[in-house]
Amino acid sequence: MKKLYLFLFASFSSVSVGQAQQPVRESQGFYQFLTEDPNQKPFYSDRQGVIANNGMVASAHPDASQVGVDILKKGGNAVDAAVAVQFALAVVHPSAGNIGGGGFMVFRDASGKSYTLDFREMAPRRSHKDMYLDKQGNPVPGLSTLGHLASGVPGSVDGMAAAHARFGKLPWRDLIQPAIDLAERGVVQTEREARGLNNIRESMQKVNPGGSYFLRPDGREWKAGDTLVQEDLARVLRLIQKKGRDGFYKGKVARMLASEMKRGGGLITTKDLKAYQSKWREPIIGTYKNYKVITMPPTSSGGVALMQLLRLVEPYPITRWGWNADSTTQVMIEAERRVYADRAKFLGDPDFVDVPVDKLISYEYLRERWKSFSFAQATDSREVSGGAIAGYESLETTHFSVVDKDQNAVAITTTLNGGYGSRVVVQGGGFFMNNEMDDFSIKPGVPNMFGLIGNKANAIEPGKRMLSSMTPTILEKDGKLYMVVGTPGGSTIITAVYQTILNVVEHGMTMQQAVNALKFHHQWLPDKTTFEQGAFADNTIRKLQNRGYTLEMQRNSIGRMDCILVRPDGSLEGGSDPRGDNVSMGY
Ligand code: GLY
Repeated sequence: MKKLYLFLFASFSSVSVGQAQQPVRESQGFYQFLTEDPNQKPFYSDRQGVIANNGMVASAHPDASQVGVDILKKGGNAVDAAVAVQFALAVVHPSAGNIGGGGFMVFRDASGKSYTLDFREMAPRRSHKDMYLDKQGNPVPGLSTLGHLASGVPGSVDGMAAAHARFGKLPWRDLIQPAIDLAERGVVQTEREARGLNNIRESMQKVNPGGSYFLRPDGREWKAGDTLVQEDLARVLRLIQKKGRDGFYKGKVARMLASEMKRGGGLITTKDLKAYQSKWREPIIGTYKNYKVITMPPTSSGGVALMQLLRLVEPYPITRWGWNADSTTQVMIEAERRVYADRAKFLGDPDFVDVPVDKLISYEYLRERWKSFSFAQATDSREVSGGAIAGYESLETTHFSVVDKDQNAVAITTTLNGGYGSRVVVQGGGFFMNNEMDDFSIKPGVPNMFGLIGNKANAIEPGKRMLSSMTPTILEKDGKLYMVVGTPGGSTIITAVYQTILNVVEHGMTMQQAVNALKFHHQWLPDKTTFEQGAFADNTIRKLQNRGYTLEMQRNSIGRMDCILVRPDGSLEGGSDPRGDNVSMGY
């Protein structure tokens, strides 16, 4: 695919990779190279936030946001609406919405108590640390990403059942019904959803030979405006509606899923499914200036990393320096470098490894970590100790935020891992299975599908949950609900959430402006900062270059945020990302 690159000349060190195309403009001493690919337009949006007084749902798809608002209007609370949105997304946004995947929920109730639920997938009982290696001990390409062996035991249905059992108000059946209706009546495809399904035809045929799920009935390509009907999925949802979590983890659906795994050489059995359990965990709660940050603990790396990132820049006057100014960017990049090194070294499933969360987010530790920082010169990532991490994860995860009339607030990030997960569709069930096993470290020191290099803390073990970057987060200000935030984006999740929070609390942006704002990302290794076109002024790029930073324009946009801000008058602003089909709806 043709790409868009930025190339700095002469006195500046190179900021590009790949082949540059023809120069299209000269500006302040550097040339920018653009391709003729019409899809490679720079992202820009001045979308306005959605304001409402009684409740707000921000999600990746208009139909899912509508389902959530309808539940709120019927008297459901934020957890009820979140459960309904999760199931609706499994129907309308099959690349990431799911019942065959997992995720995390952060919940702050109206009284200020907070909870987190880990419904991340688990490694099947028959999994083992070398399961993706050949006889020579090398990873077999594609084994942990495509096909049956790539799946962990799904957690989403158990997670929703656990959330509803503890905090739900409306009957369970009412929360599943909208998803059933969408599956039975059909979902009108957006241009993005249609393109996504067209793009996976080949790989779907590979792992589901002869399968017809998600193919247009006449065999042609999907177009925007086409309707996708999912009758088998509707039947699965009806069983979940009738029997709760057992409708998925026991009986017919469990047998279907296990036979599908057997057919394709996967490991998940009915025993694995029966044994799956989501887990309530103590939230990470920390302060950043006068804000309280409530975020996801391990098995996510996101909460630890976010607290570290915020605290590392806390001493600096970034409001005065300005948004994406060179000094602001420099301290943020240097924080990211150190935090991602820690992520690789220390983070894993806390049920299996001891993760020193309190130490990692302590000011004392972070001060020590910052000692090697200098404004004069970029730190060399090779000198920042830790494990190793590189490359990118898929954008195909999804996040949604909900606030109800009492200001109960839910942040959920959920995923199949890669877009459409393992591409395996359960025969008879019509839903995609995750390829979350790839989030484990397949072999120490060897990058996985998204360039992540593993370590012992995140090695595969039966029953273990794979490390995640998902960062659903809620902020309080003066003891009151302030912001609900999250995004997909693999390893860029953490930095996109970080920037969005700082955009509001330090740079005075509205929720939507913070979401719209162009973003950048550094993750220790590879030692470069990627950025959306226009994120930095030319002068800023030059200054950073001169201090030894490698900058690379990102071909893809960063983040698909879905966030909610409580405004000073108590009204809610939904901010949903114009980079996707994301929509906020309130009432
Ligand atoms: N699968 C992406 C994540 O959990 O971070």
